[in-house]
Amino acid sequence: MRILVHHERAERWCDALRQRLCDTASTKGSRQGESSEQPSEPSSKQAPLEIVADDGEMLGDVLVVWAPPAALFERHRDHDVKAILNLGAGVDSLLDNPALPDDVPVLKLSDAGMASHMLDYVRYGLLHFRRDFDRYARQQADTQWAPHRVVRAHQYPVAVLGLGAIGSQIAESLAADGYPVHGFSRSAHTLQGVTCHHETGEGGRSLKQVLGDESLGLKAVINLLPNTPATRDVLNAEVFQALPDDAVLINPGRGSSVVEEDLVAALEEGKLRGALLDVFQHEPLAEDSPLWHQPRVIITPHAAAPTPVAEAADQLADNIRRIQRGEVLTGISREHGY
Ligand code: GLV
Repeated sequence: MRILVHHERAERWCDALRQRLCDTASTKGSRQGESSEQPSEPSSKQAPLEIVADDGEMLGDVLVVWAPPAALFERHRDHDVKAILNLGAGVDSLLDNPALPDDVPVLKLSDAGMASHMLDYVRYGLLHFRRDFDRYARQQADTQWAPHRVVRAHQYPVAVLGLGAIGSQIAESLAADGYPVHGFSRSAHTLQGVTCHHETGEGGRSLKQVLGDESLGLKAVINLLPNTPATRDVLNAEVFQALPDDAVLINPGRGSSVVEEDLVAALEEGKLRGALLDVFQHEPLAEDSPLWHQPRVIITPHAAAPTPVAEAADQLADNIRRIQRGEVLTGISREHGY
């Protein structure tokens, strides 16, 4: 069985997978046995593994990919691909690929160490605004000495949008940090210390209803929604208007959720206090985007949570072993887009 890896740094992923699957993996392929591992004989029931970087020509039985070109899937049209393993948590770019086969299970990484990076990022953003670092930066520019009252975590309610593998860990961790946390997701969830709101089914409320609920007194909105047709443009002028004055947006999720023109307008009007943004409608963010020059915005270049190779490779190796054993894999829901 050949595992074909398509990634900018494919060799790194191939090495990590060979290390983990060395009891069954052959090291032949693009590195011609350069690996230091000692491959052992495959068990009689399992096909030997060959783990190779995509050279634009070979066919693979399992495709391990990040944002591959349509040509990769076109080349595999008549080949029996067993699974497509996505090298990230978001499958949006894969589902947008016009040549993605309909009948092959797509698996994504679930957390795989990304939640912990994401949590650092979100905690930084919350501290930045809650402890007035944005105000002190402006005051420093004006040589102004004026301490603000300390706002404690329990006085700073936050909303976490999207309660998947990453969102739910972040929501629970922030609740443990003392923040009143309101989770929002499509379907109902139960999480430790978190008030969970959902959109569909009994008791469902829209995002605008939840974010505009004055009784919650939200100070920050943290977006971890996946990019799907249902989440596109959901953070728009209407929602910004519904939020309490002076709330902030922290977005390490997907840029497609935010109408950037509406965000700029809400910041300029002073409706929103500020934003910490890692993701954008189009990446890299265009040089002429007004967001670059918005004094209340902090921009990072989709760097909040790069996929940690070791944890991700562990998860991929588990899935590859399951495929070798002939287990039926449950992939993502194409209908829901995650
Ligand atoms: C990164 O954006 C990911 O989806 O893992």
